[in-house]
Amino acid sequence: MAIRQLRNDDPPLRLRRIGFAAGAVLVLSSLGFLAVAWHPAIPPVESVPRAAPEHVRAGERLAKLGYCASCHTAEGGQPYAGGRPIATPFGTIHATNITPDPGTGIGRWSLDAFTRAMRQGIDRDGRHLYPAFPYTHYTGLTDDDVGALYAYVMSRRPVEATAPANTLPFPLNLRPLIAGWNLLFFREGRFAPDPGRDEAWNRGAYLAEALSHCGACHSQRNFLGAEVTARAYTGGEADGWWSPALGAKSTAAPPWTEASLARYLVGWDPQHGGAAGPMGTVLKAHAGVQGSEIKALARYTASLFPMPAPDRAPLDRPIPEDDPSLTRGATIYAGACATCHESGGWAAGGVPYTVTSLGQRSSVTGPDPRNLIHVLRDGIAPEQDSAGPIMPAYGDTLTAGQVTDLAAYLRARFSDAGPWLKLDETVRALMPRAPEPRSATKLEGRP
Ligand code: HEC
Ligand code: HEC
Ligand code: HEC
Repeated sequence: MAIRQLRNDDPPLRLRRIGFAAGAVLVLSSLGFLAVAWHPAIPPVESVPRAAPEHVRAGERLAKLGYCASCHTAEGGQPYAGGRPIATPFGTIHATNITPDPGTGIGRWSLDAFTRAMRQGIDRDGRHLYPAFPYTHYTGLTDDDVGALYAYVMSRRPVEATAPANTLPFPLNLRPLIAGWNLLFFREGRFAPDPGRDEAWNRGAYLAEALSHCGACHSQRNFLGAEVTARAYTGGEADGWWSPALGAKSTAAPPWTEASLARYLVGWDPQHGGAAGPMGTVLKAHAGVQGSEIKALARYTASLFPMPAPDRAPLDRPIPEDDPSLTRGATIYAGACATCHESGGWAAGGVPYTVTSLGQRSSVTGPDPRNLIHVLRDGIAPEQDSAGPIMPAYGDTLTAGQVTDLAAYLRARFSDAGPWLKLDETVRALMPRAPEPRSATKLEGRP
């Protein structure tokens, strides 16, 4: 009986052939996949030869413009010792220890191993690195620059530190899968200058595209987290912040020019102000970078914007009087913000670092309210022992409802792009610990 059943289930010969062919394709493609996914380990080195001091200094300048420290240094941690969590839509990835500690850092990495990591995203053992490490940009770096970066990181003080484990769900925790991602989205290759452009533009393009990876934050990504080439610089994400579009899609009210970019990229521009959040970190890293590098970056970035610049002036208009939310927002603004933000602006002798009108800030005129909410919640503070813009944090004093009213008011007064959709939900999501509104009973209980 059992035998008979088996015979009945036996597939016809043709089907068996198809099955065999499909199996063969599967085996071959898995082998092919393993071939691209597999990379040999690069032998460890016993010690790293001492680099010339000027080589190390060149590497230090490059590391500033590559923002290596901002990812590889944990809050309050040792420089370059790793452990900083990087939030991605897929889970948290920790930057690793890139000090020359032989056990927990990269002390046993040869220049070849370091070069392969920077250009192909493969570590010394042959494992794939997650593209949260922007090797997709660093692949464009020249041999000289990779060598100088190596000399610099290898001359740091070794620190023994192991980054916490990543929290990526299965199957994203399987590193060989990154080979598939690379196959789809990653093009290895050095930066190719454009002979039709001048030297400064090409220098700026090299920095922006390869070392400073501006697009990693400012470009739109697809559902697998890869930057979409066709939507380069149309606006992206960074650590829960919105990164404005640079180029035709820019919503900045005073248009960006080469001169204002050159000022902004070192901290502050009277037309646009300065930056907070992840861009604030970028601007702080630019302190001490040679002026020619900043000028080059400004020249290239300015060329992303359309010429002539759109005729768009900052707006400041009366708000409708019959909207209770806007009226409440106006009262909070008058009480908490106007002393600084209606002082006329720094350039006219007002409060340092403020611009004339908040209508000049893309956190108010842009399509996404998150940057404004972050700034209201956390304020702005200069680095320890340095001067810079100061704005108080309101996360402990204003309720989520008050922040919503205030944001709606700023939007209605300074932008004609229409109210932000789902503003209230966004405020509540970003301010889960906002103080509760005082209840009526509590107020009644007062003397
Ligand atoms: C946006 C954040 C970010 C920046 C900027 C960044 N890194 Fe990293 N880097 C990472 C992360 C995250 C990893 C670990 C990836 C993983 O575990 O798959 C990493 C890994 C590495 C590795 C491999 C180390 C190992 O333990 O396998 C090297 C080498 C490295 N980075 C060097 C650099 C240098 C040099 C710079 C500056 C030019 C730099 N990184 C800038 C996030 C960053
Ligand atoms: C780590 C992510 C990150 C990187 C890298 C980064 N940016 Fe930004 N950028 C941001 C964010 C976030 C903002 C919004 C800042 C704010 O609201 O204060 C911003 C704002 C800006 C603005 C202001 C735009 C406007 O309309 O207000 C300019 C210009 C800019 N970035 C240029 C650059 C350039 C050029 C580079 C590369 C040299 C760069 N950024 C690299 C995240 C980043
Ligand atoms: C003590 C002075 C001070 C007070 C009070 C203050 N700010 Fe600011 N604010 C600043 C400074 C300084 C900056 C940074 C430079 C600039 O304005 O360009 C800033 C920046 C901003 C920005 C731009 C943030 C960005 O990165 O795009 C917004 C929006 C803003 N403030 C709104 C407010 C609102 C709303 C209030 C009231 C709840 C307020 N500020 C209270 C001083 C202040």
